[in-house]
Amino acid sequence: MNNTFVHPIDSDSIFQCATLWKSKIELYNGVEIPLRQIEETPLMTTARKYELYSHEFRQNSYAVFGQMRANDPVFQQMGLDGTTQIWFITRYAEVQQVLLDDEHFVRDSGLVYNAEEREKIFGKADQFLDSMLNNHMLNKDGENHRRLRSLVGKAFTPKVIQNMRPRIEMIAGELLDRVQGNGKMELISDFAFPLPITVIAELLGIPIHNQNQFRIWSNAFVRPAISEEEQQAAFLLLQEFAAYMQKLVADRRLHPRDDLLSGLIHVEEAGDRLNESELFSMLSLLIVAGHETTVSLIGNAVLALLQNPEVREKIMMNPNLIPSAVEEFLRYDSPVERPLTRIVKEDITLGGFQLKRGDLIIPIIGSANRDGAQFPTADVLDIHRKPNSHIAFGKGAHYCLGAPLARLEGEIALRVLFERIPDLTLDIAPEELEWRDVPTFRSLVQLPVKWTPR
Ligand code: HEM
Repeated sequence: MNNTFVHPIDSDSIFQCATLWKSKIELYNGVEIPLRQIEETPLMTTARKYELYSHEFRQNSYAVFGQMRANDPVFQQMGLDGTTQIWFITRYAEVQQVLLDDEHFVRDSGLVYNAEEREKIFGKADQFLDSMLNNHMLNKDGENHRRLRSLVGKAFTPKVIQNMRPRIEMIAGELLDRVQGNGKMELISDFAFPLPITVIAELLGIPIHNQNQFRIWSNAFVRPAISEEEQQAAFLLLQEFAAYMQKLVADRRLHPRDDLLSGLIHVEEAGDRLNESELFSMLSLLIVAGHETTVSLIGNAVLALLQNPEVREKIMMNPNLIPSAVEEFLRYDSPVERPLTRIVKEDITLGGFQLKRGDLIIPIIGSANRDGAQFPTADVLDIHRKPNSHIAFGKGAHYCLGAPLARLEGEIALRVLFERIPDLTLDIAPEELEWRDVPTFRSLVQLPVKWTPR
């Protein structure tokens, strides 16, 4: 294989299909300063560095973000590779400004760099995988973005999504039927993952006989591949995923159905609004975005409820509180901690700092949603919070297309789970809980829970 690939400028981001660029950027810097040392470091911008990738960081991320908001709300330091400078933005005001201003802060590197610069910065792309996975709305700006988004927008409106309620309730119920008699489950694998992957697969119209295979493929998308072995393994997995999609689309062309995939194929065959590369990239984006994030929402929300029994008591007494509780779970422990890296298109001042054309910038949503300047008692879980202007679904042009679906899935998952298993408790010491080492997501590796079997 002549093309290794890693996650380059999107080293910290969701849907890291940019994994396909050959680059040195993601080599891990083993000399990052651990959290303890940050606390002792004198408050001098030049000397300070925040550890944003380690196990210790993930156990304590909100404290680190609090320090950054207080001392360095717009701060440039090396990314995951230890060589690429990235601006990390942590206050609500500036995070929102970046997400809203898609004139200055763009996703499409082609708008900022010419081909030569791109190759120098990102290395050479694997052409096949790049065209199968990367050519989607989240990597576009302006008219290109609007065109791609409008093709699927209608399938995700709140009204259309509400019609899915009975089916989502049924899926949630069936998942619990499988485990209820056992008195325990690993909530992520047994409930939080299979629920959204089944829903998005049905919505698209794709058969998912082997859910675990999807989990493995999806992980290859979102997890930074650091070593040569990891990169090769991820490359092979993404090739498998691309081959799966090619077969799926070929079959569906012969046998169209009444589903979203057939609709997209129809638009592509008409020829003027969607090309083949965009079709495959759209499909991969919807599959990955459509479940990874919601798994985290369900996992983080259940954990928050198990750790805040008085809140849990309230929503069990009054399930009508669940929709507003879901908004608070999205804010309190945001499933997407860091959205995709933006590129500065023209020099601009942000929070008093001069950013230059070509600079890379990551607005940290998980930190913005804990900003005390925006949310009184920001570190408290308050399901009655009003207003709750969280930006867990992003903001501006790339505002989450699947937000209505994610909200509905979150609401149903919590209601069905606590109705069916009111005595759910943690089956692991809280200090043993592990967070996935994927910079984009705030996501538990596992959440073992138990109850009295009936
Ligand atoms: C709790 C669950 C979810 C969260 C927290 C979430 C969060 C986000 C965020 C923060 C973005 C913006 C990323 C950026 O600006 O870089 C985004 C975009 C997107 N999300 Fe979600 N998402 C969730 C569920 C879903 C679901 C269920 C779908 C279903 C298909 C979905 C599809 C998308 C798509 C297609 C985009 C790109 C929109 C665009 O570029 O215009 N998401 N999501």
